[in-house]
Amino acid sequence: MLIFSLSHNIISIIFLLCIASQTLAVHVSLSSETDQIALLALKDKFANGDPHALPSWNESLQFCQWEGVTCSRRRMRVSALQLQNQYWGGTLAPSLGNLTFLKEINLTNIKLHGEIPREVGHLKRLHILDLRQNNLHGQIPVEIINCSSLKVIILQYNNLTGKIPSWFGSTMQVTRLSLAFNNFVGSIPPSLGNVSSLEKLTLAYNHLEGSIPPALGRLSKLTFLSLGVNNLSGLIPPSLYNLSNIQTLSITQNQLEGNLLMNIPMAFPNLQILTCGLNRFTGTFPSSISNLSELQLFDIIANDFHGPVPPTLGSLHKLTLFHVARNRFGSGRDDDLDFLSSLQNCTQLQQLAIEINKFGGILIEDLIANLSSSPVWLSMGSNQIYGRIPKELEN
Ligand SMILES: *[C@@H]1O[C@H](CO)[C@@H](O)[C@H](O)[C@H]1NC(C)=O
Ligand SMILES: *[C@@H]1O[C@H](CO)[C@@H](O)[C@H](O)[C@H]1NC(C)=O
Ligand SMILES: *[C@@H]1O[C@H](CO)[C@@H](O)[C@H](O)[C@H]1NC(C)=O
Ligand SMILES: *[C@@H]1O[C@H](CO)[C@@H](O)[C@H](O)[C@H]1NC(C)=O
Ligand SMILES: *[C@@H]1O[C@H](CO)[C@@H](O)[C@H](O)[C@H]1NC(C)=O
Ligand SMILES: *[C@@H]1O[C@H](CO)[C@@H](O)[C@H](O)[C@H]1NC(C)=O
Ligand SMILES: *[C@@H]1O[C@H](CO)[C@@H](O)[C@H](O)[C@H]1NC(C)=O
Ligand SMILES: *[C@@H]1O[C@H](CO)[C@@H](O)[C@H](O)[C@H]1NC(C)=O
Ligand SMILES: *[C@@H]1O[C@H](CO)[C@@H](O)[C@H](O)[C@H]1NC(C)=O
Ligand SMILES: *[C@@H]1O[C@H](CO)[C@@H](O)[C@H](O)[C@H]1NC(C)=O
Ligand SMILES: *[C@@H]1O[C@H](CO)[C@@H](O)[C@H](O)[C@H]1NC(C)=O
Repeated sequence: MLIFSLSHNIISIIFLLCIASQTLAVHVSLSSETDQIALLALKDKFANGDPHALPSWNESLQFCQWEGVTCSRRRMRVSALQLQNQYWGGTLAPSLGNLTFLKEINLTNIKLHGEIPREVGHLKRLHILDLRQNNLHGQIPVEIINCSSLKVIILQYNNLTGKIPSWFGSTMQVTRLSLAFNNFVGSIPPSLGNVSSLEKLTLAYNHLEGSIPPALGRLSKLTFLSLGVNNLSGLIPPSLYNLSNIQTLSITQNQLEGNLLMNIPMAFPNLQILTCGLNRFTGTFPSSISNLSELQLFDIIANDFHGPVPPTLGSLHKLTLFHVARNRFGSGRDDDLDFLSSLQNCTQLQQLAIEINKFGGILIEDLIANLSSSPVWLSMGSNQIYGRIPKELEN
């Protein structure tokens, strides 16, 4: 009796295990069925009625083999969605939010219009959201605040509107945020200064106004700051000069003012790219710029800088572009162009623009010929330079 009962128990345990593994199997296939249904609903909206869109997304293939779909190996759930360069012109279906195992959404240049569905906020595992080069409009849905794993948000080249949401300040793990080339208005929210993980911030080509918030000076990991072609005004806040890791500072075409160049060499020793043209910056050209040994692009055109350009640029061995046109540099004196001699050391130089300043002096014939081994784009008009046009220019 005892033996019978024991074996009966074993049998029932085995029976229970069978049921359990069956439900597990049913559960797994149900979940991946959810993914398949969600993907087909996505295709329907992507395709926008085009019967030739995504031919591989059909039920004779397992969906993990569909074009642009990657699955996690263990669970066979969709982990990445990557489609590029198509012309379907559809929209993003809300079923995107049902693919709860997604880590990466990379849907770039597939002519999507419509809004970003709020259901994206269900994607707790999402690391990368790259929807660049579409025609998405509307505001960024606040639900994205719930994608707590997001590290990269790239929405550049769309038609998104509204203010830059201040809730970005609580996306604490984001390293890259690009909202450039949209229609954002209003000011830059100071709360962005809370995203301490941020390394690249790109807000160029919008309609932003107001001043640059001092809180951005807390982003100590920032290497790339691009705010150009907006309507920002006022001084560069002193706190920004704390960002010693900055490699690219691009603030072209705003209404910014103050003595920018004086602070740069000490503040940003790793600077590679400085573009601050078309603003209202003033002051002189500090000789300490020659300490920026990583400098490649230097574009400060159309500001109100004055005084001499120091003849100490020869240490900038990586310089490829030097644009100082449309300022008040020089004083009509013969030694104004001495800095050109030091540029002979900059063997990578490709573009040199010094037009519309007050440079004087005589153009020494072989100086130009010595400037670079490769062709240099040269622009020197509207100064007080005299002498013969060097015959070496033929080369
Ligand atoms: C997405 O999930 C919701 C909620 O679970 C469900 O009601 C809906 O049918 C799903 N839609 C698609 C297309 O998968
Ligand atoms: C499904 O997609 C595969 C791969 O593109 C293709 O070979 C097959 O013909 C398609 N099946 C149907 C029914 O469209
Ligand atoms: C998205 O895909 C494109 C094309 O493959 C790639 O260049 C880009 O780096 C990807 N985006 C991210 C954030 O990885
Ligand atoms: C974020 O998720 C929480 C919990 O699921 C929910 O209560 C909240 O409404 C969500 N927030 C947004 C903005 O959707
Ligand atoms: C962008 O949106 C604005 C309205 O917000 C609209 O007037 C404009 O045509 C849109 N641009 C494109 C390229 O769709
Ligand atoms: C985020 O930044 C704002 C403005 O700089 C500040 O008032 C707020 O306390 C910060 N929040 C957190 C959680 O750090
Ligand atoms: C830029 O901002 C100034 C005020 O700071 C304003 O007068 C001007 O109209 C704005 N320009 C544009 C194009 O929005
Ligand atoms: C720059 O950083 C230092 C410490 O790293 C801090 O004491 C100082 O207040 C900061 N300066 C500004 C202007 O924020
Ligand atoms: C360049 O940096 C060195 C120290 O790194 C400093 O002593 C020197 O004064 C700087 N040169 C200029 C011209 O500022
Ligand atoms: C050119 O570079 C060499 C080697 O780095 C350096 O010794 C020299 O001083 C530089 N010349 C000028 C004009 O800066
Ligand atoms: C140009 O280079 C040649 C050869 O290196 C040198 O002799 C000459 O002095 C240079 N010319 C100028 C104006 O620096």
